[in-house]
Amino acid sequence: MTTAQKISQESIYRERTPGSFEAFKRAGEVMPGVAKGAYYYAPYPVTIARAEGCHLYDVDGNRYVDFANHHTTQILGHNHPAVVQAVERQLAQGIAVAAPMGIETALADELCRRVESLEMVRFCNSGTEATLHAIRLAREYTGRHLIAKFEGGYHGSHDAVEISTSPDPAKAGPADRPVPVASAGGMPPNATDNVVILPFDDEAAVEAIVAEKRDELAAVILDPKTGVIPQRMDFVRAVREITARYGVLLILDEIVGFRASPGGVQAQCGILPDLSTYGKIVGGGFPAGAFGGRRELMSLLDPTLGKARVFQSGSFSAHPVTMAAGLAMLEVLTPDVYAGLDRLTDRLVHGLEDVFARTGTVATAATSGSTFSIYFTGGPVRTYRAVAAADKGPVSAVYLGLLNRGYYLSNGLAMNCLSAAMDESHIDGLVEAVAGTLEETRS
Ligand SMILES: Cc1ncc(COP(=O)(O)O)c(C=O)c1O
Repeated sequence: MTTAQKISQESIYRERTPGSFEAFKRAGEVMPGVAKGAYYYAPYPVTIARAEGCHLYDVDGNRYVDFANHHTTQILGHNHPAVVQAVERQLAQGIAVAAPMGIETALADELCRRVESLEMVRFCNSGTEATLHAIRLAREYTGRHLIAKFEGGYHGSHDAVEISTSPDPAKAGPADRPVPVASAGGMPPNATDNVVILPFDDEAAVEAIVAEKRDELAAVILDPKTGVIPQRMDFVRAVREITARYGVLLILDEIVGFRASPGGVQAQCGILPDLSTYGKIVGGGFPAGAFGGRRELMSLLDPTLGKARVFQSGSFSAHPVTMAAGLAMLEVLTPDVYAGLDRLTDRLVHGLEDVFARTGTVATAATSGSTFSIYFTGGPVRTYRAVAAADKGPVSAVYLGLLNRGYYLSNGLAMNCLSAAMDESHIDGLVEAVAGTLEETRS
């Protein structure tokens, strides 16, 4: 792709979005660039005025079909009436109080009913907090300190897991024996000492590393993903078998898992993790996290049994409005809704594959559940090293090209998803928009 063509996508974008540019400039005066890191892409993000169903409307009046859906959370589309009504009902009872209001038990019941491995759950405010607390539980329960995570796996932003999320392969060691690399500045130098890195998609390497570290290893945390680096189900099952064989706990990160099925990825694979972590959909669009698992493990949190061995609380944890929204969203997510989403996702992936073939583009649509990623590499993409080897050159121009055509994806094209507010016309529209954008931006 030539610089002139890249500039042309950007100049169309700038012409369409002067109000967003003004909003971006004002924001940068009082926040470092943007309000949160994920908002930013070059040259500046669109500022959204309103969301409804599967559409976003920006401050300049442009309409987009939303394939980002609030980082995958809005699986029903925006402002689903069941969620809005549940929130309004809860608000009428009071925004929040420093006491249980009962609605949290209803959501806990729903989660334990849907997911066989959940005997008990606790609530927090984000996926980050959920993995933090699940890891503490695993360490306290086993009396061991090491955590194993997969290279390229993302489990939120705390020191135990923000390691090797997107390392420079040149610094990350051999593919079957990766070394831990801190992902963010500001971590203590010994943060990497507590983490062992495993490669995705390689059962033999996983077994060798787990066997070697078994005496120090509290847990393996695995995001089977739903989207960014989708894993084979038999690989997920193998990780469950390996951890069980060596007496190491398995934490399944299901923070995007309710994209896959009513019981998450674990129900699809037929496994029972020791602990599972949740976020996104469980809060129905409000800040949420949850973690849960076997009673014996979760009991370490129980203050009625004496002093809890692991403390977990938080001013906003189990917020009643979040609980009401999450419960309403889960209740709408019946098997039929999943079947409809899966049908649309199949149509999209086939459509994209046809477009890649038709336009001679070396690219892959990686998918699982109703999430999808576009990588400029031949597939399949099942390891971090495969993602790292993909051509990043076209991403920005294609992303801007799609915005210019009225399609809003995740800004690295890696964590896109459908919503139940879409129909075939939105899917076919995106396929044609990708075709048009690729034609326009290819070298
Ligand atoms: C698999 C996974 N785990 C954890 C997280 C962190 O969740 P949160 O952003 O709510 O802290 C994410 C966020 O995208 C995620 O996808």
